[in-house]
Amino acid sequence: MARRSVLFSPGDDGKKLRKAAAIKADVIVYDLEDAVVPDAKPAARETVREALVDVMPAAPEVCVRVNPVGSGAEDDLAVVLDGPAPDSVMLPKTRDASDVRKLASLLETHGVDCPVLALVESAAGVLHAEAIAAAAPTDALVFGAEDLVGDIGATRTASGREVSHARQHVVLAARAAGVSPIDTHYPDFNDLDGLRTDAQAAIELGYDGKLAIHPAQVPVINETFTPDEDRIEWAERILDARDAADGGVFVVDGEMIDEPQVNQARRVLERAGIDRD
Ligand code: COA
Ligand code: MG
Repeated sequence: MARRSVLFSPGDDGKKLRKAAAIKADVIVYDLEDAVVPDAKPAARETVREALVDVMPAAPEVCVRVNPVGSGAEDDLAVVLDGPAPDSVMLPKTRDASDVRKLASLLETHGVDCPVLALVESAAGVLHAEAIAAAAPTDALVFGAEDLVGDIGATRTASGREVSHARQHVVLAARAAGVSPIDTHYPDFNDLDGLRTDAQAAIELGYDGKLAIHPAQVPVINETFTPDEDRIEWAERILDARDAADGGVFVVDGEMIDEPQVNQARRVLERAGIDRD
């Protein structure tokens, strides 16, 4: 299924973890990393394990964000995987493909084989995004703008020009490896118009979905990443005409159509959850 909205909930807040399961996010992420201060991590691991027992049967995709490998992922997994395994694991501060492979081998020692959502949020991570995306367990490449800005010494601006190169690079790396690109979160959760504009920009760059930090952001993200009826009709017209044509180029609405538009039409229907070749 498409991962349009990916909602974080702090791993030390059992109430939010359970509430998240009822919010219509495509993925909920139980966070053991930045949302939890170091002293609270041991208790948070238990809280996450208990929440997984309660929510796993009913929830959408449930993911756990562990701490970086070598800085807590080992302890996170030892406690959390004593209960039901999450559907996926998010790896923060992924610097290169070996980080993903180390996480996969840790998961293997617990008998778990699940997709990894690799968060790329440092200069090294962005520069190695292609290899990170291509590593076997990686199923999605997630762009983290806030940590990146700190890592490279940039200044966060409203236009986002300081991260625009990295934001586009992550899409290229994900697509080259055939995995899904997921965009960074929009920090001001009270500004839903700003979020909508930012999500629209992410779609134009090629992103499939966006991180969220508050329940109010989820419907806006879902709606923005779901193609509207006109777009779905356009995609269906393209694929109908493709089926009727005998290969090569053809014309729809007065425009010449060939392979790139056919691929775009396929992606629109995929996002809309419509099954078609
Ligand atoms: N997941 C689940 N439930 C959430 C939530 C989240 N991320 N954020 C807020 N809620 C719940 C609140 O518990 C509250 O529930 P209630 O009405 O039953 O009491 C309701 O939604 C409204 O929340 P609100 O009062 O507007 O926000 P808050 O002050 O409780 O929380 C934040 C604000 C930013 C602390 C909170 O949204 C949050 O924890 N976000 C995730 C942070 C995180 O995980 N960061 C790491 C990744 S960058
Ligand atoms: Mg962070």
